[in-house]
Amino acid sequence: MQDSDPLNIRQATRQELIRLLEPGLPLRDQRLFEQAYRLKVAKTGPQLHLRFLLEFSNVCSRDCLYCGIRRSNFDIERYSLPSESLVEAVHWIKSRSYRNIVLQAGERSDRSYTRQITRLIEDLRKAGGEDFRIVLSLGEQSSETYRDWKQAGADRYLLRIETSNPKLYSLIHPSMPGYTLHRRLRCLEAVRQAGFQTGTGVMIGLPFQSLDDLAADLLFLKAWEPDMVGMGPYIEHYATPLYAHRDGLPTPQERYWLSLRMIALLRCLLPEINIVASTALQSLYMPAKEALQAALLAGANVCMPNLTPLNHQQDYALYDHKYASGLDLDKDLKDLAEWLKPLGASIALDDPGDPPAYHSKKG
Ligand code: 5AD
Repeated sequence: MQDSDPLNIRQATRQELIRLLEPGLPLRDQRLFEQAYRLKVAKTGPQLHLRFLLEFSNVCSRDCLYCGIRRSNFDIERYSLPSESLVEAVHWIKSRSYRNIVLQAGERSDRSYTRQITRLIEDLRKAGGEDFRIVLSLGEQSSETYRDWKQAGADRYLLRIETSNPKLYSLIHPSMPGYTLHRRLRCLEAVRQAGFQTGTGVMIGLPFQSLDDLAADLLFLKAWEPDMVGMGPYIEHYATPLYAHRDGLPTPQERYWLSLRMIALLRCLLPEINIVASTALQSLYMPAKEALQAALLAGANVCMPNLTPLNHQQDYALYDHKYASGLDLDKDLKDLAEWLKPLGASIALDDPGDPPAYHSKKG
């Protein structure tokens, strides 16, 4: 064990994690990233796993103070894709030997909507077949709804907690009933109880957030042991209340490096889980490709190419300058496979990419 953790991160206290998150020590960062990368390759292999993201609707009943698709933003056109486009997307993904779709949308929990999603999952299950993973990212729902969606054939669920600090959580959400960290955590538990492979995560570099908060986030994740984590920098959106605090934010460069350190530390704490190179990281400071490469070298093993139709991507801007797919995704993926080669990596094909930890827990 000692050998795989020369920096002794698995035993690190909150204070020690804070020190590892602090900027200004490139050599220490390099050692951290090297350790994380070695652990990733040893535990999950060198491959990059793709999850194709379909942002199928931006209709949202929530009003989170950081998010560009909050219901009070009247500056976007609201859309919902028909089920047929999603079935088509599954066929597209399968025909290229990939095995994942992530359905993400604004949050809604009215009965007619949750039923419609149940039917959609059934259709996608049929289209995808056995070895295909349906991943949902549809926010807070009742335990019953989570169970129905699992039963209908979905495999994984992503629900970020956004931050593990209840005070910070209240500062970035409206002060209305229904927006507490307590409730969020109950939902996350219910997701796991329903039998999903469970993903969560936080935003990095939020207004009012300290390194102490981020160290606490890492310890929360370590203790909770999700199957997957997606975390990325907070990026301001002009039409949200948090935009007013943009002057107090860490610079994009700082948020970029902080996000990479968070990824690397988490990989050292939970070597076997899936960790995403987030779209937000690819939208901030560095060109998308370099940011992806940096995240992979810091311990991430998953990325989520966007399959949302191009004419809707701009209406799903959670934050300003969100990275959008190119016109030719097939070509982009071919290029990606090419530039992974020198890293000794490749894109996983015909492989749903369940985390090894999930199988060892099941077994
Ligand atoms: N900056 C970065 N990430 C954001 N998200 C929402 N708004 C922003 C933003 N302004 C993230 C949240 C949410 C996920 C779907 O997108 O973490 O859970």
